[in-house]
Amino acid sequence: MNVTVLVAGGAGFIGSAFVRLLARERPSWTVVVYDKLTYAGNLANLHEAEGAYAFVRGDITDASAVRATLRDYGVTAVVNFAAETHVDRSIMSGREFIETDVVGTYVVLTEARAAGVSRIVQVSTDEVYGSMPVRAAAEDAPLSPNSPYSASKAGGDLQALAAVRTYHLPVLITRGSNTYGPYQYPEKVIPLFITNLLQGKRVPLYGDGRHQRDWLYVDDHARGVLTVLERGEVGGVYNLGSTTEVTNLALTQMILRELGRGDEWVEYVADRPGHDRRYALDSSRAHALGWEPQMSLAEGLRSTIAWYRQRADWWQPLKSGAFEAYYQKQYGERAVPAAAAPGAE
Ligand code: NAD
Ligand code: DAU
Repeated sequence: MNVTVLVAGGAGFIGSAFVRLLARERPSWTVVVYDKLTYAGNLANLHEAEGAYAFVRGDITDASAVRATLRDYGVTAVVNFAAETHVDRSIMSGREFIETDVVGTYVVLTEARAAGVSRIVQVSTDEVYGSMPVRAAAEDAPLSPNSPYSASKAGGDLQALAAVRTYHLPVLITRGSNTYGPYQYPEKVIPLFITNLLQGKRVPLYGDGRHQRDWLYVDDHARGVLTVLERGEVGGVYNLGSTTEVTNLALTQMILRELGRGDEWVEYVADRPGHDRRYALDSSRAHALGWEPQMSLAEGLRSTIAWYRQRADWWQPLKSGAFEAYYQKQYGERAVPAAAAPGAE
């Protein structure tokens, strides 16, 4: 089968892992990376796939550029990773999230329909279900997003599902859990904490640190998206979780221990507004397609930490300039007095 796949957002964290996976395991496919290269997009993420993809710099909200790319390359499948993705940035300002995650998704769907693309995967997130106090969310759980980011992702999902019903567009949706690994922008908790510690800085833990996340290694996430692209049922939604739930405090302690640091390196800061307490996914539908995560959290963290140790050349430039300004804005006024921190005497 001749596959020409457009990977929107393929220069980001998970999108680039997906492109590297295709370069290794689907060498006969033609891969076109379509990316705006926002602060989060970086062609260095694709270094290991050099020669295995074509690159088009473009915005998914730009209908004529998307149309021309689909036509010029004869695209047969689209995987849309492109999004604004950081919850804290969405709390500071949500507009770009709506533009890319809702309007951009709508444009991708509309242009893919006009071009007669035969399969489209919309990459979404467990955050659309909102906080799950007790059980795990299956795909039919109600959408109940709590942040401007997750609300915009839910908007994209609803556009995708509407296109299936209205136009019989061959769309599938994946909803992955918290993902970590190499090449993740150092604003997300795991790379932020690792790189802060490597720079001799403390790590800002939100609230009481008891919020829970389900951690999925990036290559497992990429493989899940490929499985859904190849074997999923059109119109289907597929959760991709790892059932590795830990509190943020336990996760932080795993990172501290691996780097030989004690709990005094934790700085409790004010909680994130609207902070979801717990995410948990029931991923049996994806398991039925033959997908299972391979990497344990302990092993994945160890190799991720080793990668950030070796690749200061990749992350150090990202933590200067605009990042410092963002970081200052984000944490400048959020530190809580030590006496108010959880566990303080
Ligand atoms: P990321 O922020 O690392 O990368 C996003 C990429 O999209 C970047 O390359 C950026 O340049 C590109 N982009 C942004 N706006 C664009 C636009 N308007 N047009 C074209 N390209 C644009 O994101 P990520 O963490 O790799 O996430 C990828 C997808 O997976 C997102 O849709 C996200 O919602 C979803 N997701 C992420 C996680 C996670 O933990 N990181 C978990 C579940 C789902
Ligand atoms: O669940 C999937 C989602 O995971 C993706 O859809 C998002 O794109 C991705 O950013 C991620 O969202 P989170 O908000 O869960 O990830 P983040 O790394 O920002 O935070 C993880 C947890 O750590 C969360 O409970 C907040 C906490 N945290 C985060 C930061 C950045 C801290 O305690 N301190 C921090 O400095």
